[in-house]
Amino acid sequence: MAILNILRYPDLRLHKVAQPVTVFDATLRTLVQDLTETMYAAPGVGLAATQVDVHKEVIVVDVSDRRDSPVVLVNPEIVEAFGVSDIEEGCLSVPGIYEAVERAERVRIRAFDQFGKSFTLEAQGLLAVCIQHEMDHLKGKVFVEYLSPLKQQRIRAKLAKQLRKSA
Ligand code: NI
Repeated sequence: MAILNILRYPDLRLHKVAQPVTVFDATLRTLVQDLTETMYAAPGVGLAATQVDVHKEVIVVDVSDRRDSPVVLVNPEIVEAFGVSDIEEGCLSVPGIYEAVERAERVRIRAFDQFGKSFTLEAQGLLAVCIQHEMDHLKGKVFVEYLSPLKQQRIRAKLAKQLRKSA
């Protein structure tokens, strides 16, 4: 297992669109393990393969308090969505920024696990929001892009300053 480097917004590679997984092999399972380990180490509640510069439709999420219930979603699709949620979100690719984004409050997801078994998952609240956030990454979309241009500009300036400070 390995802890992978997480791309930081506004890295252009975060805008690449992920491709569906077609082969469920050892390489995929290693990716899932590395994503999970990287998410826990960060620490975060979700991570998409896009964020580690692997452009395949793979995400991991864990919103449990004990951090022992990872959910692996390969080729996830939203089958149904209900309600409106505006939980404040953060992102490991946009450190220190928290903003509310309008999402569905409940979703039904169809996906595969890392072994190629298909399943459906009903999610609500934080888990539902987290899955929608990670699925956006697979489409090349970062949550701050829902915000106004002015807010986005401020966020980019703040991140550039953080980067200079840490350099
Ligand atoms: Ni994110």
